[in-house]
Amino acid sequence: MSTRDDLKWSDDYLIGVDIIDKQHQRLFEYFDDIEDAIERQLRDKVMEVCAGVVEYAISHNVFEESLLRDIGYPGVDQHHSAHEAFRTRVTRYLRELEAGADPFKVAQAVRVEIGLWLINHIKQEDQYYVPYIKRYKRFDKWRRLFGLRPRWQY
Ligand SMILES: [Fe+2]
Repeated sequence: MSTRDDLKWSDDYLIGVDIIDKQHQRLFEYFDDIEDAIERQLRDKVMEVCAGVVEYAISHNVFEESLLRDIGYPGVDQHHSAHEAFRTRVTRYLRELEAGADPFKVAQAVRVEIGLWLINHIKQEDQYYVPYIKRYKRFDKWRRLFGLRPRWQY
């Protein structure tokens, strides 16, 4: 099985929070874009999508953390640490590209590292906050019933 098959989006990865699910799906699209650029040996394109997926993954994590802070998720500090460890690992690939490393090799490594990390992260750490978001949204439904302003803004 090629890595292309390994890193395909599956509905098993849905966590049930639309805005997060859409961002996760976008990351999987990047994995395909990298694979295409490698296959077609497009050097500039491969560097562009490689930097793009690193940036998108980091900003997705930042967004997720701000959402978790908003809802008062108690595990936000641990979640932040997991994201920070990820950031340290993936930004080193950008430095490798800057230093002139083979972009095709770097891109394949980025794709596999971010892909496997993401799948693992979705199946584990992300699952912990899902019940908190659902509970928060359920209370919002009640707030609406009582004419109060809903707090869920995403
Ligand atoms: Fe996360």
